[in-house]
Amino acid sequence: MMPRPLTTVCVTVLLSLSIGGLALAQAGKRHEQAVQQKPFGTRDGRPVNLYTLTNANGVEVDAMSYGGIILSVRVPDRKGQFADIVLGHENLDGYIPNPPYIGAVVGRYANRIANGTFILDGKTYTLPKNDGPNTLHGGVDKTFNKVVWDGEPLKGKAGVTFTYLSKDGDDGWPGNLKVRVTYTLTNDNELVIDYEATTDKATPINLSQHSYFNLAGEGTSDILNHELMLNADRFTPVDKNLIPTGELRPVKGTPLDFTKSTRVGARIDDPYDQMVLAHGYDHNWVINRKGGGLTLAARMYEPTSGRVLEVSTTQPGVQFYTGNFLDGTVTGKQGHVYKRRYGFCLETQHFPDSPNHPDFPTTILKPGETFHQKTVFKFSTQ
Ligand code: BGC
Repeated sequence: MMPRPLTTVCVTVLLSLSIGGLALAQAGKRHEQAVQQKPFGTRDGRPVNLYTLTNANGVEVDAMSYGGIILSVRVPDRKGQFADIVLGHENLDGYIPNPPYIGAVVGRYANRIANGTFILDGKTYTLPKNDGPNTLHGGVDKTFNKVVWDGEPLKGKAGVTFTYLSKDGDDGWPGNLKVRVTYTLTNDNELVIDYEATTDKATPINLSQHSYFNLAGEGTSDILNHELMLNADRFTPVDKNLIPTGELRPVKGTPLDFTKSTRVGARIDDPYDQMVLAHGYDHNWVINRKGGGLTLAARMYEPTSGRVLEVSTTQPGVQFYTGNFLDGTVTGKQGHVYKRRYGFCLETQHFPDSPNHPDFPTTILKPGETFHQKTVFKFSTQ
C-alpha cells in the first residue's frame, strides 16, 4: 500500500482560507479546524501516517497510526503561550522501542493480569509475561501500542479514527477483536477519545491511553508541583507485584486522598505501605459515579503556567501514575531527558486484573455486543 498524499479537511475557516493550521498555531491567532495527514515512515512493511488535529483556537494534537500514539499536544498557558505538554519523540524511530508506553493506546488489556493467566468459560488462557510474574498492557508481541493501525481522517471534524484487527490467539487472547479508537479535537479544547470494539469469541478487554503529561511543558521539570483532584473516595490497593488485592479501600486518611486538590509531591514519599510498594503513585482509583455516563474523574492544575487538565470518562477507574519508573534513560523531544516523575498519566480504565476478580466490574466482551468507552481530556487555564 502506498502512503496517502497530504490531505487537509477544512471545517471552519475563521481567519483566512489561504492560511494553514500549522502556521497559525505558532502565531497564536485564530485558526481553521482541520486534520492534516502525512506519511511518517514505515513499520513492519506498512506505511505509518501522522495526523495533525488543529482547532479554532490553534490547539494542536499530533497522533500517528503506529500504536495510536499521541506525539504532542500544544495548548496555551494563562498568558496565551503555547507549549507541548506531553512527553514523546519527534519521529517514529524514537518510539521503537517504547518501554514506558509513551503516548500509546494500551490493550488488549490495559494494566496488569496476575501471573499472565485467567479463566474464561472454564478454559485457562496463558499470556506472555512482561512484568515480573504479570502481563502488563496486553503482552509482548502484537500489543496495541506497537502495531500499525489503519488511520482515517474524520470528515467535517479535527479528528482521526484508528482501526485494528487483533487476531484470535495473538498474545494468547481469545477471539478476533475489531478495535476502533477515535481522537477528536473540539473547539472547546477537548480531546475526545472514543473506544469501540467487537469480537467473535468472548474476551477480556480494557483499553486506555498512556500519554504522560507535564502541564508546565514536556521535559521542563518533574510534576510534583502540580495539584490534583481525584473524584474518588476509594482505590484498589495492590500487593508487591502491583496486583489488586481485591479490597476497595477508602482513601480517607491516606496519601491517596485527592478528594480535595492537593500538591502531587506533598505525600508521594510517605512511608504508607501502598506508596512504598508502588514507589509513588501507581494505583487505580474507583471513580465516584452515578450510572455509566461521562463523569469527571480528575482535575490537574499546574500553578506556574495556570494550565488545567480535566479528565472525564465513562470508565469505572483511573490509574494515576507519576512516572516513577522513568529513570532518565529515555531522551525525548528537543533532547529532553525524561527523568523520574517528569510526567504523569491519568489512564482511564477498568480495574487492573479484573478477569481474576469476579467482584470487579466485568471486562468480558461477548460476540454480538459492542464495547464502548469514552474519555475526554479538557484543556483550560486558571
Ligand atoms: C503502570 C505502571 C507501568 C507503566 C508502564 C502504567 O500503566 O501502572 O506500573 O510502569 O504503565 O510504563
